[in-house]
Amino acid sequence: MNLDVIVSLCKRRGFIFQSSEIYGGIASCWDYGPLGVELKNNVKRAWWRDNVYLRPDMVGLDAAILMHPNVWKASGHLDHFTDPMVDCKACRRRFRADKLDETPWIHYCPATKGNKFEIPAGEPCKHCGARRTLCPACGKGELTPPRQFNLMFKTFMGPVEEDAAVTYLRPETAQGIFVNFDNVLQSMRLKLPFGIAQIGKSFRNEITPGNFIFRTHEFEQMEIEYFVNPNDVIDGRPADEVWHERWIEERFAWYQRYGIRREHLRLREHEKDELAHYAKRTADIEYKFPMGWSELEGIANRTDFDLRQHGKASGKSLTYFDEERKTHVLPYVIEPSAGADRSVLAFLVDAYREEEVRGEKRVLLRLHADLAPLKIAVLPLLKKRDEIVATAREIQRRLAQRWVSVYDDTAAIGRLYRRQDEVGTPYCVTVDVQTVGDAEKREAGDRKVTIRERDSMEQVRVPITELETVFRELLADGVAWSAIVARYPAAKS
Ligand code: GAP
Repeated sequence: MNLDVIVSLCKRRGFIFQSSEIYGGIASCWDYGPLGVELKNNVKRAWWRDNVYLRPDMVGLDAAILMHPNVWKASGHLDHFTDPMVDCKACRRRFRADKLDETPWIHYCPATKGNKFEIPAGEPCKHCGARRTLCPACGKGELTPPRQFNLMFKTFMGPVEEDAAVTYLRPETAQGIFVNFDNVLQSMRLKLPFGIAQIGKSFRNEITPGNFIFRTHEFEQMEIEYFVNPNDVIDGRPADEVWHERWIEERFAWYQRYGIRREHLRLREHEKDELAHYAKRTADIEYKFPMGWSELEGIANRTDFDLRQHGKASGKSLTYFDEERKTHVLPYVIEPSAGADRSVLAFLVDAYREEEVRGEKRVLLRLHADLAPLKIAVLPLLKKRDEIVATAREIQRRLAQRWVSVYDDTAAIGRLYRRQDEVGTPYCVTVDVQTVGDAEKREAGDRKVTIRERDSMEQVRVPITELETVFRELLADGVAWSAIVARYPAAKS
């Protein structure tokens, strides 16, 4: 599938817009629209519920984005959080030196009187056999030797822009957890192993951002720092290594729990030479994005690197007292670090389907109901009948107390269903003539409505008085749609 299909759906249906679009946009910055903010909040809520509320060994935190500048010195980000960068001397474009061979390149081929070709990434010219040496974008300029470029955004605190006032927008949320380790430990009286979870914005001055919300300058991370006693042994193995594997399994299963297909996920171990400066071992969960397999989440064993560094730099002890062994230890840290925006992209891509129904194309997002921006749409079959409209509005008003739902009467029913399919709404409720009856003909309504399920398009007839029970079962208690189909009569489609 082409990423443009998702980008276009996101814009058309109010998920994601380019930032500052009326001014021509700003590169790699995106705004979440009315449905996008719901989807992203639902992703974050599911992550928080599963990792904080449902685990006895986890607590949450929300640290400030701006931190003492010494944090970034001690953490190693000032010295090591860099990418090698080269500039084209002719067109001035900037590239990551280590990614040059992953971009297609422009070549003016001497063997064909200087004709211009775009050559696939990493391949030589078919005519003259040359490999890329010049700028891949303009094909003419020489590239500067690589220089290290720090990815942190610098800013100034206070009214004077001087070196003493320099601080940084955090490039990862993790450091807020490390510097609060002792505060959380003492205030919550925790015992190892335990974890601290945090969701928040991070910022990176990426040299080559792109692919929609996959790599941006401003993004949200969902990070866990899970602290383990390095002296503990589980089944004869160091506890940190065992916990690392447990977290890899747990996080791998999490994406599948919310609908991502197993065959679109894989694990990739970092080679020794690509490990971050703090990591002993890192495994990435990769997703098969439209542009290829790419990192969705990194799960690192950061050892005691960060607590040690901050302990040394601040002069404050960040150790844990091991009651059993009567010693102070520096915990090891396992870090499952996910991106909220990248997860949104993966969930959208994986949910996207095109089907043919009665000779017409149907686009749908098969989003997990917990993630779907809207849970229920209430639709009147005829908007000219006041009783139908009033009943539908009243049903929507009641359902909205518990679930994000909408009322829509702006098109014919077929089109309303298609619109809801396209944004992933799992259930539609339709109010029709049978529901309200016909006063002129002295026919009483049956006070029943049709519930239509998105994926199967099956419809059942349910009394209005039972709607809330049915939706509680479907949306909160995990009851399968097939159980509802078995209980209620089918409705005509
Ligand atoms: N604390 C560890 C850490 O930050 P990372 O692999 O650099 O590790 C973790 O980032 C996750 O954050 C990535 O797997 C990705 O989901 C997300 N992420 C990182 N950089 C990003 C960017 N520029 N745009 C969007 N998401 C990003």
